[in-house]
Amino acid sequence: MKKTLSLALFALLLAATAPTLAVAADAPASEAAAKASGSEAAAEVTASKAPETDKAAPAEAEAAAKPAAAAAAGEAPACPEEKETPEPAKQVWPHKGVFGRYDMASVQRGFQVYKEVCSSCHAMKFMSYRDLAGLGYTPDQIKSVAGEYTVTDGPNDDGEMFERPARPSDHFKAPFANDKAARAANGGALPPDMSLLVKAREHGEDYIYALLNGYEEAPACATKVPGGNWNKFFPGHHIKMPKPLADGQVSFSEGAPNNLPDEARDVVQFLAYASEPHMEARKFMGIKVILFLLVFAGIMRAVKRKVWQDVK
Ligand code: HEC
Repeated sequence: MKKTLSLALFALLLAATAPTLAVAADAPASEAAAKASGSEAAAEVTASKAPETDKAAPAEAEAAAKPAAAAAAGEAPACPEEKETPEPAKQVWPHKGVFGRYDMASVQRGFQVYKEVCSSCHAMKFMSYRDLAGLGYTPDQIKSVAGEYTVTDGPNDDGEMFERPARPSDHFKAPFANDKAARAANGGALPPDMSLLVKAREHGEDYIYALLNGYEEAPACATKVPGGNWNKFFPGHHIKMPKPLADGQVSFSEGAPNNLPDEARDVVQFLAYASEPHMEARKFMGIKVILFLLVFAGIMRAVKRKVWQDVK
């Protein structure tokens, strides 16, 4: 009985879908017909395109003439090194991939690099001292780090602003009072806030790592930019940031290696952590969800088999 019922249902379904199937089968034929009638229109389109290509030709000729004109006018020839920016090499980061986790020892060293070097120019307005707990700092350590800074608070009951030592709940102290002051101190360039810098740059970690290692002698043909430093990986190459890191600049406790590439690797991992402190929780949740779905799919299959077991 059940079998005939389901067979009837199946037939009904087939009947209902048949027209759509037929239409689908017709489609190529009708398309071809449409194409045939549209061929005139297509011809028109190509005709209207033709003048454009004609127009492009003089433009090209002009472009070709330009360098010659420049040379005649005595301008310096274009510098090939100045034109192209190489892609940063891909690095292996422990926090990448589905199961990636932060290398906390490196992140801690990176914070030290930020604190001792980068923080004199770059703010991190989305980080507060208590966020250092995520790096493994104890409440006492956090208090002492915060205590090294003085922040402006207020107004008090007399309506005056006052200075006080920073508390764990304060945001990282910015090196400059405002963007104008930051530009004035850096040859007109604004050192960007570093809280989300890894996310804000194409190639994120790889780019910042390459940038920190990318300071070189400028090629002889390069234009002279006042206050500019030649960096292989900075778009345009003339970066207003002086080379911030050098071999042995920061000494780590426990004698961790502190050559320039090591320091750069550490500070990049700190910046990656700062840009996404909850990454590990997010990935763990994803894995749990996938596991749940797998188990749930198994249960659903068992249920389906049970429900349909009598239908042969
Ligand atoms: C003396 C001040 C100074 C210090 C110290 C400094 N920076 Fe910078 N940084 C700048 C300035 C200024 C810019 C903007 C450069 C520009 O636009 O030409 C900048 C830009 C950057 C950029 C962005 C480049 C881009 O693509 O826009 C990164 C990344 C960066 N700095 C990383 C660091 C790191 C990491 C440190 C610490 C190791 C550091 N900086 C230390 C001044 C500084």
